Amino acid sequence: MARIQIENLSKQYAGGQMAAVQSLSLDIADNRFVTLLGPSGCGKTTTLRLIAGYLRPDTGTINVDGTLVSSPDGVTPPDRRGMGMVFQNYAVWPHKTVFENVAFGLQIRRLPTAQIRDKVMAMLDLVGLQGFDARLPGQLSGGQQQRVALARSLVVEPGILLLDEPLSNLDAKLRERMRGELKQIQRRTGITFVYVTHDQAEALALSDEIAVMHLGVLQQYGSPRDIYSRPANRVVADFMGQVNFVPARVVDAGKVAIDGGPAISVAVPGSLAAGSAVDLAVRPENIRLAATGANGSAIPGRVAELTFLGNMNEYIVTTARDARLRVQTHPTELLSIGDAVALEFDPRQCSVFARS
Ligand SMILES: Nc1ncnc2c1ncn2[C@@H]1O[C@H](COP(=O)(O)OP(=O)(O)OP(=O)(O)O)[C@@H](O)[C@H]1O
Ligand SMILES: [Mg+2]
Repeated sequence: MARIQIENLSKQYAGGQMAAVQSLSLDIADNRFVTLLGPSGCGKTTTLRLIAGYLRPDTGTINVDGTLVSSPDGVTPPDRRGMGMVFQNYAVWPHKTVFENVAFGLQIRRLPTAQIRDKVMAMLDLVGLQGFDARLPGQLSGGQQQRVALARSLVVEPGILLLDEPLSNLDAKLRERMRGELKQIQRRTGITFVYVTHDQAEALALSDEIAVMHLGVLQQYGSPRDIYSRPANRVVADFMGQVNFVPARVVDAGKVAIDGGPAISVAVPGSLAAGSAVDLAVRPENIRLAATGANGSAIPGRVAELTFLGNMNEYIVTTARDARLRVQTHPTELLSIGDAVALEFDPRQCSVFARS
């Protein structure tokens, strides 16, 4: 059991211009893979260090399984929280062998030697390092060292594992493989993972829930599908992959009129009155390109740029109002530069935001 309840947590560093983390509330359920996602400097590491107990909050509380571990009045020290942490620069001890690195936490706990040996060997199996126990870190690749760091944190069986950009130093192929392994380890062990990354594809692939942060403030907390398809605001829509913002005006609660184009039926947030200037957010893969005149609700445009990306064609289509929209289609649907097209949006895949 390891549920983490964060309430109204704030932290400003001495000399900092603004709070690195502001009024953060997050309820992380047991046995979940939760990712803190956001651009550089948004407060991810600070949040992780607050959870780990390396920092004392200015306001707010952290409870683990109902026990208060952090508040402005005091923090339970990191080594008494039942948490493991894998730091970004996965510092493994260079003069200890793989076995000694992984065994260290168990030796501190004074487990019998035979038991330590069994646990370490089982853990090296789990992370795919069987046969590497006698090597020194200098004789390992970066990805193998990363797995030593992971094994060292996992072997003490923490209820919670905190991981700060643990795959950032790996090449693309190894990253992808390690992603799969991490997810499997989380499923197999039932440990609650709190994972930090600025890579949205990684967050989507790994997480049960994603917490998107920006400038120290939580923007949205939800499943990968929710965050991608139902972004709570422009910041989230923009950060999670590519998005077109099409200028429009609110007609009523269920309709917006695109500037110089047709009206589109779409859910409009209640806070936006008729006549409000808005942007219709639509992702490149949710726009269809039809022959012109096919449909009265389509927007006429012209193909301005074409890029073949192997698994898709990517077009830049300009409209009469000089909007430039990015559109992605199946690679066999081939158009040429200059072709007249009609853009059709699936309204269920569109979001409406106040114009900024
Ligand atoms: N020790 C410190 N003293 C003062 N300011 C700090 C300190 N550590 C971080 N900050 C500031 O706090 C903010 C949040 O930093 P944090 O390290 O949490 O960001 P992050 O989301 O982990 O970024 P990155 O993706 O670059 O690792 C930043 O503006 C940063 O400059
Ligand atoms: Mg960081």
